[in-house]
Amino acid sequence: MGIDPVRLGGPIIGVASTWTGTMPCNLNQRELADRVSEGVSAANGLALGFNTIAVSDNQSQGTPGMRASLISREVIADSIELMVHAHDFDGLVCVVGCDKTVPAALMALARVDKPAVLVYNGPMRAGRWRERDVTIQDVWEAVGAEERGLMSREDLDELERFACPGVGTCAGHFTANTMAVAIDCLGIACVGDALVPADEHALKGEAAARAGALVVRLVEQGTTARRFLDRRALLNAMAGIAATGGSTNGVLHLLAIAHEAGVPLTLEELTDVASRTPVIADLAPSGRWLAEDFHRAGGTRAVIRELLRGGHLDGESPTVDGRTLADATNDAPLPDGEVVYTLEEPFKPTGAVHVLRGNLAPEGSLVKVSATSRRTHRGRARVFDSEEACCDGVRAGRVTAGDVLVVRYEGPAGGPGMREMLSVTASVIGAGLGESVVLVTDGRFSGATRGLMVGHVAPEAARGGPLAVVRDGDVIAVDVDDGTLVVELEERELAERLAGWRSPPPRYDVGVFARYRALVSSASEGAVLIPPAG
Ligand code: FES
Repeated sequence: MGIDPVRLGGPIIGVASTWTGTMPCNLNQRELADRVSEGVSAANGLALGFNTIAVSDNQSQGTPGMRASLISREVIADSIELMVHAHDFDGLVCVVGCDKTVPAALMALARVDKPAVLVYNGPMRAGRWRERDVTIQDVWEAVGAEERGLMSREDLDELERFACPGVGTCAGHFTANTMAVAIDCLGIACVGDALVPADEHALKGEAAARAGALVVRLVEQGTTARRFLDRRALLNAMAGIAATGGSTNGVLHLLAIAHEAGVPLTLEELTDVASRTPVIADLAPSGRWLAEDFHRAGGTRAVIRELLRGGHLDGESPTVDGRTLADATNDAPLPDGEVVYTLEEPFKPTGAVHVLRGNLAPEGSLVKVSATSRRTHRGRARVFDSEEACCDGVRAGRVTAGDVLVVRYEGPAGGPGMREMLSVTASVIGAGLGESVVLVTDGRFSGATRGLMVGHVAPEAARGGPLAVVRDGDVIAVDVDDGTLVVELEERELAERLAGWRSPPPRYDVGVFARYRALVSSASEGAVLIPPAG
């Protein structure tokens, strides 16, 4: 391997990259991993690189392939964990980007608890089409519009060619960039480096080299990953996600990271933080601006500084460069009132993510309200047993204003893999029904989803949750302020229906999907894999 034996005496650092050549999201990671290795070498460490898989949500969205997405989180985490165990690295740098790669790396670090730094490869620029900025979200909504005859096929094709103009994670504040905010708030990356756009090659390279040098220092100090993945840090991350109107996936991932780190943390504790933290960043899909605009306005550092001023974060939390979160952000830009708002005049006064419970979700469900103005809805159920069935229903015009779309058997076990319902929600919005229907599902939502959408319903239908016995025409009521999700049925009627329910056959009998279905826990616990007792 051409390694000078002298180098074997210093710290040996694993450099995990989630590069794949299949997607733009992670395409600059090999180059960044090389820069990490240079930083490690300059600090007298020895860097040994390896790679994991990665799944692009926006390439698999709306297809059976999307079932691989959340499952890939476990496979990536397992890959990193196994490499650390096999090669006994002294420390680790993980280069991450697309949605599942960030929580996966954090889960692995929580398990192995080695000195570690994360490098986020950065967001993509906006596309430019017909005098306006566009992203993948515009494409999905245009798909819905084209299906309804509101847009031509030629225009859709043209938009698709312009929407994702280069390397980097999706340009809006969708799941990947939500998790970039989370890693800054956790302090497990150099605060402020994550959202530097992916095509800022010089700056990204410097950040990667800095991470390489830092991890050697962490090894020397004996500072390990769980120091940045404790309860305080995870609650800080939740506040950051909420304050930026981030994705509901952030809640699922924080629960999973907490589980792997052995930190007791409940869905309620996270959503309590989320619901009392004002949204102070005006970011798509909840608002106007994209990741590059957010970064220009001070990005996560500006948000953290403002949240600290109001006592919404614990500023004494450590960061990997040795400073506290407060020290690392005390010279961050002040809110500009356009992209980043003050706490006194927030973009939205109430929190972004709420938990709803009731006879339809005894273990909870999540609703994101930053991307809608509606707080309540009551309507007749239109029930679909898969995402495809629901999409067909919307396309065929079988969904009308006022309906509550129920999409079930899409949960962690039922899918399996808890698919995101972006093609459904985008079709609904494209069909002009975004402000008049509600979606209730045991699946997930993309960070790009808009409208009043309730996901993560637990227990899921495939495990005998009440969603399994809802019928067309049942009345479902959603009330964000009351925190309720209810099907208006007598208790006895619901119990009788549940007693007669039989689980449908699994979609997969063998392989990773079958294993995942057997082991995965509820979304209310982070959808982590739990080994059978004994
Ligand atoms: Fe990879 Fe959005 S699909 S970051």
